[in-house]
Amino acid sequence: MATIQSFFPTLVYRAEFANAAKLNRDLEMAAQSLSRDDIAGLRWCEKHGYPGYTSYASLDDLSWRIPIFKKLERLIDKHALAFAKALHWDIRGGKPICDSMWVNVMPEGGSHTSHIHPNSVISGTYYVTVPEGAGPIVYEDPRLALMMAAPPRKGTTPRGMRGHVSETPRPGSLLLWESWLRHEVPLNKAEGERISVSFNYVIGSR
Ligand SMILES: [Fe+2]
Repeated sequence: MATIQSFFPTLVYRAEFANAAKLNRDLEMAAQSLSRDDIAGLRWCEKHGYPGYTSYASLDDLSWRIPIFKKLERLIDKHALAFAKALHWDIRGGKPICDSMWVNVMPEGGSHTSHIHPNSVISGTYYVTVPEGAGPIVYEDPRLALMMAAPPRKGTTPRGMRGHVSETPRPGSLLLWESWLRHEVPLNKAEGERISVSFNYVIGSR
């Protein structure tokens, strides 16, 4: 008799925030005002061909600057700890600590190519505004670069064995993953902006 086992899973954590309407309204207002007033951020987006607005390169300490982002950080902290537990990390009395947090305002036609998040251990996104028909976030099998001669997988491949896996967020969705996991945001085909808050966590003892 033969058995097949499955090793080395890639975990992606998802939670839906209940009763998030007020939180999302406040975050949306803050994001909209940043996207008008953050001149350095707008300049960076223009220079780097970033569609829409991100505060990634100008204001990535929003939870320190603006109380509503601090509130969001506190909510995410619990989930980051739960995720660290699910990963069986020995964090030696420490805990996941938010190291940076920024907003993204992506217009119709915007996309974000495949990337990882350096200098952190857990990364993620909280979704504030998701227009009907806005695309998913797509995660890439971290072993893809090793698959020199492997045949492509069939269309009927179960989700957990595919080379790319999509998650479609709703307003109030929280997604966490290990920071080395490559991901991309395909073209936003929906009319209207998708507003999200992204962040990186490190392990610390604060
Ligand atoms: Fe990202």
